[in-house]
Amino acid sequence: MKSEMENDILKVLITEEELQRRIGELGGALYERFQGKRPLFLGVLKGSFVFMADLVRACQLRSDVEFIAVSSYENATASSGRVKINHDLQQDITGRDLIIVEDILDSGNTLAFLKDYFLTKGAASITIVALLDKPSRRTKAIDADFAGFEVPNEFVVGYGLDYCQHYRNIPYIGVLKPEVYAD
Ligand code: IMP
Ligand code: MG
Repeated sequence: MKSEMENDILKVLITEEELQRRIGELGGALYERFQGKRPLFLGVLKGSFVFMADLVRACQLRSDVEFIAVSSYENATASSGRVKINHDLQQDITGRDLIIVEDILDSGNTLAFLKDYFLTKGAASITIVALLDKPSRRTKAIDADFAGFEVPNEFVVGYGLDYCQHYRNIPYIGVLKPEVYAD
């Protein structure tokens, strides 16, 4: 049955089944890449929390989990270009192989900033995993090492991604009805 919240969804872009199948593939690829190592999965909050939970279980490596919280959007659908750390790392990452887990790679501002930041903190290597990739919007020269799905230039919600902090708990990726933005 459709929830009240789902009445705001115009269309489904990626179904729950498609998400799970692709995350299984990503987990397998990361397993191959990091076998014998002990990487640190580093989730970029808040958007990555759902993806992170599924990805670490799809990749049965001996590994650690850490989070950093940043914001750049200030509750709009266009990036302000500035990145602010709202919750910093709680451990030393010197010499660690990082797997950055991001919900979506859009302009690239967030990941360009974080990559520099983690390198100055002494990370040994950085691998970027983005569930979604919107290459048409990129303004920074940065790419994901592993991307789940390429999406068109539309604002998407669900599976961790929000609009004004809502819709993160929708289990698939969808596009909102235009009237939702008008309110
Ligand atoms: P970037 O810094 O422009 O690459 O944007 C990265 C962040 O912006 C992501 O981690 C998201 O939190 C947010 N973002 C970008 N595009 C979307 C979208 O279509 N829906 C929801 N959040 C988005
Ligand atoms: Mg985010």
